[in-house]
Amino acid sequence: MSDTTATADLTEDEARVELARLAKDLLRANQLYHAEDAPEISDADYDALKRRNAEIEARFPDLKRTDSPTEQVGARVSEGFSKVNHAIRMMSLGNAFDDEDVADFDRSIRKYLGLPNDAPLAYTAEPKIDGLSLSLRYEHGELIQAATRGDGETGENVTTNARTVSDIPHRVEGAPEVLEVRGEVYMSHHDFEALNTRQAETGGKTFSNPRNAAAGSLRQLDSEITRSRPLKFFAYAWGELSEPLAETQMGAIDRLKAFGFQVNALTRLCDTTDQMLDHYGQIEAQRATLGYDIDGVVYKVNDLGLQSRLGFRSTTPRWAIAHKFPAELAWTRLEAIDIQVGRTGALSPVARLHPVTVGGVVVSNATLHNEDYIAGRDAKGGTIRDGKDIRVGDWVQVYRAGDVIPKISDVDLSKRPDDAQPYAFPTNCPECTSDAIREEGDAVRRCTGGLICPAQAVEKLKHFVSRKAFDIDGLGAKQIEMFYDDPILPINTPADIFTLQDRDAGNLARLKNRDGWGETSASNLFAAIDDKRTIPFARLLFALGIRHVGEVGARDLALFYRNWDLMAASIDTAHPAARAQRAADEAEDAERIVASDEGRRARVKEVRDATISGGNVPEDAANAWADLIGIDGIGATLGLSLSDAFANQAEREAFDDLRTHLTIVPPDAPASDSPVAGKTVVFTGTLEKMTRAEAKARAEALGAKVSGSVSQKTDLLVAGPGAGSKAKKAADLGIETLDEDGWLQLIGDL
Ligand code: IVH
Repeated sequence: MSDTTATADLTEDEARVELARLAKDLLRANQLYHAEDAPEISDADYDALKRRNAEIEARFPDLKRTDSPTEQVGARVSEGFSKVNHAIRMMSLGNAFDDEDVADFDRSIRKYLGLPNDAPLAYTAEPKIDGLSLSLRYEHGELIQAATRGDGETGENVTTNARTVSDIPHRVEGAPEVLEVRGEVYMSHHDFEALNTRQAETGGKTFSNPRNAAAGSLRQLDSEITRSRPLKFFAYAWGELSEPLAETQMGAIDRLKAFGFQVNALTRLCDTTDQMLDHYGQIEAQRATLGYDIDGVVYKVNDLGLQSRLGFRSTTPRWAIAHKFPAELAWTRLEAIDIQVGRTGALSPVARLHPVTVGGVVVSNATLHNEDYIAGRDAKGGTIRDGKDIRVGDWVQVYRAGDVIPKISDVDLSKRPDDAQPYAFPTNCPECTSDAIREEGDAVRRCTGGLICPAQAVEKLKHFVSRKAFDIDGLGAKQIEMFYDDPILPINTPADIFTLQDRDAGNLARLKNRDGWGETSASNLFAAIDDKRTIPFARLLFALGIRHVGEVGARDLALFYRNWDLMAASIDTAHPAARAQRAADEAEDAERIVASDEGRRARVKEVRDATISGGNVPEDAANAWADLIGIDGIGATLGLSLSDAFANQAEREAFDDLRTHLTIVPPDAPASDSPVAGKTVVFTGTLEKMTRAEAKARAEALGAKVSGSVSQKTDLLVAGPGAGSKAKKAADLGIETLDEDGWLQLIGDL
């Protein structure tokens, strides 16, 4: 740094070049220091770089970069942290909103486990802390890593910062060799107020609530800032362990307490749902005086053996649920109703509200769901809000529950302006003017424009790059908006993303000179795109944004077909059967309207089944269709939607084009040491030692595919008492059949 020019002598060009270099060097220094604990430059040199950067920015304020190191607070900080792959996924929790939901939760657990209603089943009940979750990994008793939840699979490495939190021990005595403690970082009300006062006095950023303050404080690149923020930590769960902590949730929490972690004193053991609800009431009554934010009560099955039998759905455990506190309410005026067009063409009405504070957050938009909701009708033709419709100009009651989008719960008719008109829901797409139609049985009106509708195309692209899809660093919703329909460098289809860097060199130079795009950010973007040319099959399927194909459906399809070309060919083959199914469904719908007696309805069903399984449909089509909708978890609705997408010319071209740029990775080869890996298994009849859901989850965990119907592709039928036509069909096809014990023996569970 000896050859630096005095700031006063710098030309504008020199300053620009140096600011770019400083941004790069400081980012790298931060990353090495915080993430890898391996700084390459001394603290003094680091400070000198930061000072130099600030001096140049002060002399040339117009040259300040959008990624300026002086602005590195809040969300952008994340780029400075390295990533941590969680050894065990960090889950979120399902929600219960009332007593009935809690009773359902208990019922569904009993059903899954096959426990009678009167069998004892204990739960813990504890406050749900409103902060951010953190995983702390100890090896041989030493804290070696702290990571945020991130997307559940990958979080940010915040080890240095976590070490500044006094509730987080650096060492624990007597712990298992590997101990991953999970819990919540939060800030008390008192500390939050004091921090905001201090920030306001020093011209710093103030925070809208304690949770944001805690998140902003933990995710600081400068750990000295984190140290100056009074963060706290409650331990309530764990991840990887080299040996179990205890046999029960309560026992495990006691151990964490003995290791020196703060655990919540309001944690109780409950033997019945009544006791759980009673404890919920007690916690709610203390909510205002606890001194920190909580947003509900978490119930967890106490027996850890049962927890592991119950396992997880895609993102939430079956053995726990968050019972949320009731939503917070406020009244305000509805100023306008706007229509947004989504990825699947759905026209979603959005309420534009006169801004109002609801539970500490300013709300100016709320969802209005669909046209029936605005009109005061529910999906079944009944009334909601006593049939009161919602009109522009009305006084409406807004409510928020946790993080969900605000909703409108009521209308004050006494304040309705005399000239307020019933809302006329558009029947044409506001973006592309195509017809917007509402199919029988669908609550939503949809634009029929498909990919020609710019709104749908943009939303599909945003979905395509989103975190659970292609997750391309530096290419998010904002950038998609910028590139879509761009006159010079358009991204109009997913394939365009992958050709971006091969376009005309002059255009690329223009990209690099745009607002917010430097040489580095452009080459980072290209590298991030290249990184995703190899993509897991399930992610790709999810990314396509086909209606009804969610993360789980995509995974099921990928596990079944394993290969894009095979899948596409099979969907094509199935097409005539899919069309016949739709025609039959439509005929059935029409018939149902006139069908007045059960007998007639049954005949309609027979006709439909015949159309599909034989009749006018070629056998290979019927088989391919049966394969598709026979995949466990995939039904006719998803099947039809998939078939429509592949048969739609514009969409199909987009898929085929995209395909040429990608290497598609099939799902992990199923555990090869499992005797059922890769096999297609069907369960039928009554199972006595496990429930159907449990059997399915266990089989899938062992790498088997579980199907709902017997076909030539079935490898194994597990038949309990009362097995009927499936057992017969399996026998006819010569498929191996086992009883429940035989199955348990095969998989080594007996
Ligand atoms: S248990 C596998 N217990 O709530 C389930 N979570 O909405 C692990 N949270 O991601 C979570 N208080 O950040 C659990 N007492 C508590 C909690 C709690 C707050 C958070 C946690 C979780 C989120 C889900």
